[in-house]
Amino acid sequence: MTNTISSSFHLAIIDMLILVVRIQPSDGSEISINMSKTGLLHVPKDLPLQTTVLDISQNSISALQTADVQSLSNLRILIISHNRIRYLDFSVFKYNQELEYLDVSHNELWKISCHPSVNFKHLDLSFNAFDALPICKQFGNMSQLKFLGLSASQLQKSSVQPIAHLNISKVLLVLGDHYGEKEEPDVLRDFNTESLHIVFPSKKEFSFLLDVAASPAASLELSNINCVLHDNESSFFLNVLSKLRKNPRLSNFTLHNIETTWKSFLRILQLVWPSTIEYFSISNVNVQGPLDFIDFNYSNTSIKALSINQFSSSTLSLSQGSIYKILSNMNIQNFTVSGTRMIHMLCPLQISPFLHLDFSNNLLTDTIFQNCGTLTGLKTFNLQRNQLKDLTNLIHMTTKMKSLQQLDASQNSLRNDENEVDCSWTGSLLNLNLSSNALTDSVFRCLPPKVKVLDLHNNRITAIPKDVTHLEALQELNVALNSLADLPGCGPFSSLSLLIIEHNAVSHPSARFFQSCQKITSIKAGSNPFHCTCELREFIKSMGQLSSEVAEGWPDSYKCAYPEGYKGTLLKDFHVSQLSCNIALLMVTIGATVLLVAASMTCLCVYLDVPWYLRMVCQWTQARHRARNIPLVELQRNLQFHAFISYSGHDSAWVKSELVPNLEKEDIQICLHERDFVPGKSIVENIINCIEKSYKSIFVLSPNFVQSEWCHYELYFAHHNLFHEGSNNLILILLEPIPQYSIPNSYHKLKTLMARRTYLEWPKEKTKHGLFWANLRAVINVKLMEQTKDIDHTQD
Ligand SMILES: *[C@@H]1O[C@H](CO)[C@@H](O)[C@H](O)[C@H]1NC(C)=O
Ligand SMILES: *[C@@H]1O[C@H](CO)[C@@H](O)[C@H](O)[C@H]1NC(C)=O
Ligand SMILES: *[C@@H]1O[C@H](CO)[C@@H](O)[C@H](O)[C@H]1NC(C)=O
Ligand SMILES: *[C@@H]1O[C@H](CO)[C@@H](O)[C@H](O)[C@H]1NC(C)=O
Ligand SMILES: *[C@@H]1O[C@H](CO)[C@@H](O)[C@H](O)[C@H]1NC(C)=O
Ligand SMILES: *[C@@H]1O[C@H](CO)[C@@H](O)[C@H](O)[C@H]1NC(C)=O
Ligand SMILES: *[C@@H]1O[C@H](CO)[C@@H](O)[C@H](O)[C@H]1NC(C)=O
Ligand SMILES: *[C@@H]1O[C@H](CO)[C@@H](O)[C@H](O)[C@H]1NC(C)=O
Ligand SMILES: *[C@@H]1O[C@H](CO)[C@@H](O)[C@H](O)[C@H]1NC(C)=O
Repeated sequence: MTNTISSSFHLAIIDMLILVVRIQPSDGSEISINMSKTGLLHVPKDLPLQTTVLDISQNSISALQTADVQSLSNLRILIISHNRIRYLDFSVFKYNQELEYLDVSHNELWKISCHPSVNFKHLDLSFNAFDALPICKQFGNMSQLKFLGLSASQLQKSSVQPIAHLNISKVLLVLGDHYGEKEEPDVLRDFNTESLHIVFPSKKEFSFLLDVAASPAASLELSNINCVLHDNESSFFLNVLSKLRKNPRLSNFTLHNIETTWKSFLRILQLVWPSTIEYFSISNVNVQGPLDFIDFNYSNTSIKALSINQFSSSTLSLSQGSIYKILSNMNIQNFTVSGTRMIHMLCPLQISPFLHLDFSNNLLTDTIFQNCGTLTGLKTFNLQRNQLKDLTNLIHMTTKMKSLQQLDASQNSLRNDENEVDCSWTGSLLNLNLSSNALTDSVFRCLPPKVKVLDLHNNRITAIPKDVTHLEALQELNVALNSLADLPGCGPFSSLSLLIIEHNAVSHPSARFFQSCQKITSIKAGSNPFHCTCELREFIKSMGQLSSEVAEGWPDSYKCAYPEGYKGTLLKDFHVSQLSCNIALLMVTIGATVLLVAASMTCLCVYLDVPWYLRMVCQWTQARHRARNIPLVELQRNLQFHAFISYSGHDSAWVKSELVPNLEKEDIQICLHERDFVPGKSIVENIINCIEKSYKSIFVLSPNFVQSEWCHYELYFAHHNLFHEGSNNLILILLEPIPQYSIPNSYHKLKTLMARRTYLEWPKEKTKHGLFWANLRAVINVKLMEQTKDIDHTQD
């Protein structure tokens, strides 16, 4: 119980969803609601008031009331077919002035009540349970009525009277299971219609007297004919047919659902043949019984087209030859035999009037029409969905068909012979459909020379060979669903305007295609496994330039399949720079960049003296490093000064105005021999003392320095100290460049030091001074303060 409740609750929710989903206003004012097959028990309330089309077919609705539809004043089309309505009062539609299409077919209606306001164009009351014809007097005022569907078990002339004056395009008359008890044979005379379709009770032997020939209709359709038992010449149905000849207006005659014998079937054909009928169509036929040889009289026919669809025979062994003989010699233009188990067809004995043959969907084999010289007028031939296997036989079949323009051999199992030599297609073929077969590349070596439209989709083509037949007339080529790896060039197909090559293996389509195929007006190349690499750019560019009518499916069905990173990306969105694709361009660019960098380096060197900066920075870092690595023990010595400065008297101006102030500003203590001299000691002693009490010795080098004897001593001592202590305490400042030659040979120490270039250069440019001082301070900067105190104590 709870289950039912919950499931109906679910259903209700689903209904609501469906309602929401199916509201589709087309062109603004139209609101169409489709609630077909949604399990409705009643007409749904709360429908949008503007609803114009309402489909509530295939539900379980049992009644229709005014309240259900009165608010839908715009309702034009109402479909309530396949429900359970038993009674219908047309007054429920009195407020639906726009309603012109009402379908209440396939309900359980047995009674209707009429109302004058109704005015339909389409009214379908067929397949209901009426006993008498449901025709009200008021129907007579429906001057617009185009279609009327009725059902009844009794046909009375009097009930048709109200509509006898109307010109209805089509009347559908469904006869109930009890029809036939009281017949009025000429009742059809008063159905003033162009087209009449009568559905006889199914599963009931045809034993009616109804005179179908009495109808004024030009087109007559009869369904459910069962004439198995009465199969002699005076059977009821044949009797009915024999009267058809008397109706000169009848031009279209259709029979659906026939159960009969071979004998009756051929009698039906023979009876129809000399009538005024032009279009004769038989569908869904089942014949039984033996087939005897009969002579068919083809004379005096008006038939233009005969169509036999869905034909089955429960008799297996029968002399098929005689039926093939009858069919193949028919003197008509259009002949269709489709959906039968027909395995063969004979070549007509005389030049045949056949223009259009449709033998699709049978079991025909390659032997059909071999060496047949009588189908010279045949223009179109459809052999779709048969059992054809060998393309060579198909080619031979066409050889003598001098007028054949259109051949459809799609959906067979055709294979082509790789070494086909005898290429004897008829020259007249313009449209060839060989799709859905098992053809390979070499099919292109033998094709009808004038073919304009060639459909080879869904075959096994991997490439279009070099030596293809030149098809100058070919305009449309469909090679979708094959295994082609590239787009074809239009060399051999100079008129090609439409190419379909979807679903192949095209990974690197060459843009060459667009150059060789100038006449292309439509290309469909989507759904291929495109490799999104540099090579694809030209193709993408070319596709992007085409208009949307030409590039069908672009951009949505063109996606990258490779590389992984781009998989699924639309080709349109695949961008790769010009640069990374063009090797030459890449080399040029790299070259240019290198040149540019070199040039700017040169510039920097020349104008900004970058090497000087680099050297300074390098020395600075080394100094910091060394300073950090010097163990404190090292400084436990008698150090009192950070630095001793040795310079030539000629450079004293720079030393006193630049060097000393700049160092002392940073709490660096300097030992200047003339300032910090200990009296009573010789100059040499003082210098040595000064050097020994200093952490570093700074030498201000200049051509003047080289000239000074004292300086030479000072350097000697300092250097001596340097080598003996193993510490790098010598700082050389090159105040002015010293030409190597100007250094006397005896100053070999200085020479080696200079050669090692371990000096700081005093820059001429003011902007560089900051870095110079920072560098110098870094070299000297060591915390001396505490030690100096200690040293002072020891000295005291
Ligand atoms: C409603 O939908 C069904 C399929 O669910 C379809 O067959 C029918 O044609 C639709 N009716 C209308 C009016 O479009
Ligand atoms: C048909 O319409 C006419 C006028 O339009 C009216 O006089 C007549 O009564 C109507 N007939 C029926 C049966 O409703
Ligand atoms: C039906 O057609 C006939 C002839 O074509 C014409 O005279 C008659 O007026 C038409 N009747 C109606 C109701 O349109
Ligand atoms: C008869 O059938 C042909 C072909 O189907 C069609 O073109 C023609 O309109 C039909 N004629 C009538 C009166 O229905
Ligand atoms: C044809 O069949 C009907 C019913 O089966 C029978 O009454 C009638 O005598 C038969 N006529 C001939 C000529 O065999
Ligand atoms: C064929 O039928 C025509 C009339 O439709 C008739 O004139 C002719 O004699 C018949 N031929 C044969 C051989 O029965
Ligand atoms: C049948 O056709 C022939 C000519 O083929 C003609 O002489 C004869 O009158 C026609 N018979 C009928 C019944 O139409
Ligand atoms: C015959 O068939 C062809 C091709 O299907 C069609 O174009 C033509 O209209 C048909 N002719 C007649 C008279 O039905
Ligand atoms: C070829 O036949 C197939 C059906 O087998 C059809 O879908 C296709 O449209 C036909 N091609 C042409 C060009 O008519």
